[in-house]
Amino acid sequence: MVAAPKRTNGPLNSRGGVVRAVRYSEFGPAGVLRVEEVPDPVPGPGQVPVRVTAIGLNYGETVIRSGAAGRVVPWFDLRPGAFNAEVVGVTDDGRRLIGYSAEGYAELGLLPEDAVEVPDGVSDHEALALHLQGTTALRAVEQARVAAGERVLVEAAAGGVGSLAVQLARRAGAVVVAAARGRRKLELARELGAHEVVDYGEPDWTAGVEPVDVVLSSSGREIARQSFELLRDDVGRLVLFGFASGEPVDITANDVYRKHVAVIGLFNPLDPDDLRRLFALDLKPVLGESLPLADAARGHELLEGRATTGKLVLVP
Ligand SMILES: NC(=O)c1ccc[n+]([C@@H]2O[C@H](COP(=O)([O-])OP(=O)(O)OC[C@H]3O[C@@H](n4cnc5c(N)ncnc54)[C@H](OP(=O)(O)O)[C@@H]3O)[C@@H](O)[C@H]2O)c1
Repeated sequence: MVAAPKRTNGPLNSRGGVVRAVRYSEFGPAGVLRVEEVPDPVPGPGQVPVRVTAIGLNYGETVIRSGAAGRVVPWFDLRPGAFNAEVVGVTDDGRRLIGYSAEGYAELGLLPEDAVEVPDGVSDHEALALHLQGTTALRAVEQARVAAGERVLVEAAAGGVGSLAVQLARRAGAVVVAAARGRRKLELARELGAHEVVDYGEPDWTAGVEPVDVVLSSSGREIARQSFELLRDDVGRLVLFGFASGEPVDITANDVYRKHVAVIGLFNPLDPDDLRRLFALDLKPVLGESLPLADAARGHELLEGRATTGKLVLVP
């Protein structure tokens, strides 16, 4: 007989020892995501159970779910199952914590006991916008060592990472060139403080852009290569932190040598202090749609269809 999972108390009571959670058993299109009933999570050492009040969706999860991630970066070849999802949740003793839960998109989660507390006055949605996407934007701007007066091109500038990178680069005194697809996104980037905007959905989009000192690149092969060519020779830096198109970027060492520039690969280490620093800044996270847990597949479709701006969340 299988032992009954340990129940949690107080506000964390589930329905008869099961919780709703999103799972997938094969890589594929968004439709592989299913809401299932799974046993209550059992806290391990140093973990605390939380009643999840909001779940952040990230583009990277669509790339993992589709199976494309493992083709580009071998260690991304995860087994289908649950996403390691960013959540805000409330503990039995009323603390509102934010962090990654291995329970994935689910009603109950497990967080480290010392997870970051969300400050009063910051909503779940705002906190999730800053958690992975905000800290990635912060790292990208800092690793590029953006200096006042430099020209910084931000790809996917109306997205979760991009909309915060625009604001952070501007705070660093840069001249921000926001690159995105479509008028609506470019208007948003302007409202966030971009000095120039350019639609990379247009052919020859780089033709009217003056050379830049820094590129923050996440879109994938074609756009990354075009952005790379905009770098000023000798001084340029390109921070590569994503491949939204699902194709590997093929900037070669010879390209780097030819232009005497630097290409920096960034994987966000999720340092809690980065998030605490962001909470203390006066940023305007762009809050996208808020969907019910059962609409996780739709959330993935919106992300993949380039239909979102800012942060998309699920509310269980
Ligand atoms: N390295 C890390 O640690 C790290 C951490 C977080 C995120 N990331 C990466 O950063 C990027 C942004 O993440 P996010 O969560 O903030 O997503 P997002 O920017 O909110 O959404 C992705 C955006 O990518 C753009 N895009 C460009 N080419 C695309 C294509 N072929 N298909 C679909 N979208 C395309 C779209 O904007 P346009 O329509 O304007 O092109 C789309 O809205 C992703 O690539 C993600 O994997 C990396």
